[in-house]
Amino acid sequence: MDDPTGMTTKKKPTIALLSAVINMQYLADAFEQVAPGIDVRHGADLGALEDIDVAVCWFPPHGRLAQLPRLQLTQSLAAGIDHLLADPDLPRGTPLCRIVDSTMAAGMKAYVSWAVVQQHRGMRAYVASSAAGRWEEQPVVSPRSHRVGIAGLGTLGLACAEALATIGYQVRGWSRTAKADLPEGVTGFHGADQLDEFLSGCDTLVCLLPLTPETKGFLNASLFARLPRGAHLVNVGRGDHLVEADLQPALDSGQLSAATLDAFSQEPLPATHPFWADPRILVTPHIATRTDSRVIARQTLENLALLQQGGRPAQLVDLARGY
Ligand code: NAP
Ligand code: GLV
Repeated sequence: MDDPTGMTTKKKPTIALLSAVINMQYLADAFEQVAPGIDVRHGADLGALEDIDVAVCWFPPHGRLAQLPRLQLTQSLAAGIDHLLADPDLPRGTPLCRIVDSTMAAGMKAYVSWAVVQQHRGMRAYVASSAAGRWEEQPVVSPRSHRVGIAGLGTLGLACAEALATIGYQVRGWSRTAKADLPEGVTGFHGADQLDEFLSGCDTLVCLLPLTPETKGFLNASLFARLPRGAHLVNVGRGDHLVEADLQPALDSGQLSAATLDAFSQEPLPATHPFWADPRILVTPHIATRTDSRVIARQTLENLALLQQGGRPAQLVDLARGY
């Protein structure tokens, strides 16, 4: 059997699984499947900290990474790395990788396509009609007449843009830098200078930006005012992209017609949060996509092996850029 982790001839690395918010046992099980017998530690007692070669993280306890003297790789178990940058003591000299994975992209394509279609075709009304036994039509509007804009044309944004264009939606995307070779049917915009032109053609706006100091609060009243009246907002980025206090006033005024939100400033969204009771807001619990835990384990070991050989993993994050 081939061994892309390069571990058959070397000492197996010691892995720490760090999270202040979730139980990492599922990931320990995945490492055991991918590399049987590997030393994986998690929970409060990590044993001798100088043993640890790699930390796989989702909101690690602040200061923990800085206590690992022989850390060779910080691995995000997610596409985003904002949960790591939030640690003021993040060891910035240690290579940091994120997950880039086709199954994660497929999940995001499915979620975003659903979010766009369910609102554009009035599917929630059919759920109510069906439950009530009523034969009731909603307007059947062609995808070709609906413009979807995707803010963030990276790995996930591009995959969603291509999927929506294949369905037949008019698709546009916005990124920091100009994009060559966009998928057929996708129009590109970039930078602050082209933001207004991009927004003016978004009947649905999908946020797939990384959370950085530049993008925090991107979804705010001023931005909503630059969308076509009655636009639908889909946020599958991070909760802090949205200025939550600006959303319901924009819905009340009719500037926005609906919002489909998968990420929130506080997760789980508190039971008393006003978004739950608002029928114009569809809340999902940060499930737009996931990565198979064995893919996380395998990518981690491959990244480490490549770094040890002096290579540069494709998923290495540019910390100066912040994503
Ligand atoms: P990515 O490949 O790094 O792409 C990020 C995109 O955002 C790039 O196109 C980048 O522009 C653009 N961008 C960054 N800063 C910008 C700015 N200031 N102005 C304009 N555009 C900017 O990231 P990804 O893998 O697609 O993931 C995107 C985000 O999705 C993650 O960071 C995470 O927050 C979120 N996510 C959510 C879920 C969920 O389940 N809800 C799951 C996975 C990921 P350039 O192309 O010019 O660099
Ligand atoms: C999930 O939110 C991710 O960033 O992968």
